[in-house]
Amino acid sequence: MNTNIQTIQSLKSVRPIVATTVYDSVMAQLADQSGIDLLLVGDSVGTTILGFETTINVTLEMMLHHTSAVSRVQTKALIVSDLPYGYSHDAFEHIFEACRKLIQAGASAVKIEGGSSIAPTIKRLVDSGIPVLGHIGLLPQQIKNLGKYRKFGKTEAEAKALMQDATALEDAGCFALIGEMISETVAKEISEMVKIPLIGIGSGVHCDGQILVSNDLLGLTTKAVPSFVHSFSNLSENVIQSFQEYKNAVIERKYPNE
Ligand code: KIV
Repeated sequence: MNTNIQTIQSLKSVRPIVATTVYDSVMAQLADQSGIDLLLVGDSVGTTILGFETTINVTLEMMLHHTSAVSRVQTKALIVSDLPYGYSHDAFEHIFEACRKLIQAGASAVKIEGGSSIAPTIKRLVDSGIPVLGHIGLLPQQIKNLGKYRKFGKTEAEAKALMQDATALEDAGCFALIGEMISETVAKEISEMVKIPLIGIGSGVHCDGQILVSNDLLGLTTKAVPSFVHSFSNLSENVIQSFQEYKNAVIERKYPNE
């Protein structure tokens, strides 16, 4: 049976939800075969695949291109696509139009960065038939305001604001939340407070699930990975080695060897 938003919600009381990012049909198929629950076509495609420094260069057209590629695989996993930079505080008609295109490109839901301030917009989207995955804590699309990536919820005021964000998004109808770089104790409190799942990234072990960028967890990157990442493989090394073996085989006329 294919995973839908209800399946993701029902896992909260059963076991941790397993999520990762995918940006193309090959990785989507492999991740799906591995039994991952939720595949996010993240705007991290910008930094992971497209060579940008931040996610703010990622456009709706890019997200549609990658969402379509991922969706050509008939996955069992739920496919969620990121609403890119600049949309969440735009006029509702523009936000709806962008979400509609992402859903029509094959996503089953849209992820939107932001807390209480965008809750009314999210409510209107959910009422219009767009399932929404919320995203609180570190919001990479706010990097120009933030200056650098950091942990959230260390002060009492920030912890309170995060709890308010989580409640507002749950009330607005989000089917689940991503909690990025939230202090472990606050993430635990949020997970216990809301009925919807809190899927953590860099937010400790008490969340209702975990998400990692696929290239980071596979060790398929040329960049440094965040400190909370565990690389379960070192594919970069395998790739370099395979290219080198191919190069040597060609130079030594060992390939092709009919
Ligand atoms: O775009 C992305 O990959 C994300 C995850 C880091 C949650 O938002």
